[in-house]
Amino acid sequence: MKLVLATHNPGKIREFSQMASGDDIELLPMPDDLDPEETGATFLENAIIKASAAAKATNLPAVADDSGLEIDALEGRPGIRSARYVPGSDADRRLKILEEMSEVPDGKRQAAFVCAMAFCSPDGAVLNTTEQRWHGTIGFEERGQNGFGYDPIFNLIGRDETSAMITNEEKNTLSHRGQAWREMLDFIRSAELPV
Ligand code: IMP
Repeated sequence: MKLVLATHNPGKIREFSQMASGDDIELLPMPDDLDPEETGATFLENAIIKASAAAKATNLPAVADDSGLEIDALEGRPGIRSARYVPGSDADRRLKILEEMSEVPDGKRQAAFVCAMAFCSPDGAVLNTTEQRWHGTIGFEERGQNGFGYDPIFNLIGRDETSAMITNEEKNTLSHRGQAWREMLDFIRSAELPV
């Protein structure tokens, strides 16, 4: 079955395809000229905007994810603004978080990566949604070279490692995105959609 993944990022297509490797699903990128504006107030609203736009533009079923980091001590920031919390690079945004968190003691540094996902039929109607969280804590410094975004400052629960210190395979089994995509795959398998 052909399914559009509402992204222009080939890395994301690869990651999602690997996790669906046992399924008869071919993931296609969103058309180059389509760039839906993420005007939603929540991760889920943004995922629905992207999936619905990609489905209608291609006349194929489409899935979209929207994700980010929520930090309890910062009242949920950076949240849906994770990718653009401060201008500059991912490293600039990590530094900003480390600065904002510098006085927050151990025990009050809880955070979660959140991933909302929406699946739409070719007419743009929402068929299923899910939202999954990967709980951790914010470190006092960067550690690890893998991953992207906020991974070097996201400490895993019960382990002396950040999400930038584990392999891609392990991250897929633990992460917010991996959990959400597996849940969505269960729905797609059981929904008996037309091929
Ligand atoms: P997107 O919605 O997947 O594009 O992610 C939005 C932003 O959230 C990214 O630019 C990252 O800053 C952050 N983010 C989402 N998922 C992760 C992750 O798995 N590791 C690190 N940062 C993430």
